Amino acid sequence: MMDFADRRARLAAQLPPGAVAVLPTAPEAVRNGDAEYPYRHDSYFYYLTGFTEPESVLVLAAAQGDKPARAILFCREKHPERETWDGYRHGPEAAREALGLDEAYPIGELDARMPDLLANAPALFYATAANAALDAQVAAWIKAVRARSRSGVTAPASLHNLLPLLDEMRLVKDADEQALMLRAGVISGQAHARAMRAARPGVFEYELEAELLYEFRRNGAQFPAYTSIVASGANACVLHYNANNRRTRDGDLVLIDAGCELDGYASDITRTFPVNGRFSGPQRALYELVLAAQDAAFAAIEPGRPYSAFHEAAVRVLTQGMLDLGLIAPGKYGSVEDAIADKAHVPFYMHGTGHWLGMDVHDVGAYRDLAQADKPSRALAPGMALTVEPGIYVRPDPSVPERFWHIGIRIEDDVVVTADGHRILTGTAPKSVAEIEALVGNA
Ligand code: GLY
Ligand code: MN
Ligand code: MN
Repeated sequence: MMDFADRRARLAAQLPPGAVAVLPTAPEAVRNGDAEYPYRHDSYFYYLTGFTEPESVLVLAAAQGDKPARAILFCREKHPERETWDGYRHGPEAAREALGLDEAYPIGELDARMPDLLANAPALFYATAANAALDAQVAAWIKAVRARSRSGVTAPASLHNLLPLLDEMRLVKDADEQALMLRAGVISGQAHARAMRAARPGVFEYELEAELLYEFRRNGAQFPAYTSIVASGANACVLHYNANNRRTRDGDLVLIDAGCELDGYASDITRTFPVNGRFSGPQRALYELVLAAQDAAFAAIEPGRPYSAFHEAAVRVLTQGMLDLGLIAPGKYGSVEDAIADKAHVPFYMHGTGHWLGMDVHDVGAYRDLAQADKPSRALAPGMALTVEPGIYVRPDPSVPERFWHIGIRIEDDVVVTADGHRILTGTAPKSVAEIEALVGNA
């Protein structure tokens, strides 16, 4: 059980005395006609409440003098008729009880109650300039407080962006979050293995996607964490390909980038395998190069190392391999250092080697140490979770040996930084050449 109350207390303790923080959850979104997109709560809101109902707002008032901090929820009221159509709603009283909050009110009372909650608060924290409707709502609340100035009431003198405080908290995952992310990684790894087993030349990309989704859902994951990429043949060189509608052919590689979201936490795995179960020579050469780059990147992930180090480690290995295999024109550079300095890898490797991972697949948190003047890459610390995802994508080009054309490979795992290194969360996804060749088509 996540300790949401502890998170609220830690956030409130960072606010000035008497300051107020306001955090709405995500709106529902219409897809078309009377159909809505599956509802997904706001990650920040969930982080502080564990509450997944739409139309909810959390208000935190920081302690001041002998007044303790307060956590107040606005949420949907009980509504027997709507609950007959749409399902259970807590209603304020049950929500207050279930979430361990101090007070709860119907969402319809938000605008009437906020001026009281903001009266005499020195500062207001919310997601400034992120959402025009919220900015306008905040302005109306402040105007309503100012209208009472003749009775001596003061309105917040300053508005602050709430999100950087939460970003820093979310960046370091606690033990409960790490356990959930491991479970998400295990399920996603099993899903990749399932897709590999179902592969054979002629299978459609969407059939493999269906295998992934089946494995996610049968294990209780609510959603894919992002739109699954199932890219065969030349499609693997399109980084955000997700049409997933091509029929595979003998000799193709299939690149699958897919991960489930489990109880609000993402996983993010990429595997690349030959649809017929045997890597060709050129495919295998590039695959083993990407694998070596990933190993070099892992070795750079430990507390105290800068975030930038694992990308640099991957780029070094990839660049050397590109020189050795002739992807980078032989003789163009005197040394691997020259090639790295010239970013010679970029035509074949145009993305970073990872990103923070958490409730959002590209999770929050600064990548640089913003407290220092030159803003260096920040040091890794225990509890930070990130992906490690080197790749190579070879588009047809006369300057590149033709045997490598249209090969796209990425290998992506999720890790969490530990006290003495890192832990891989996605080890159930087969990865070595031998494991993959033994599994593909072996349904
Ligand atoms: N699946 C998104 C990414 O790898 O960044
Ligand atoms: Mn990723
Ligand atoms: Mn990915």
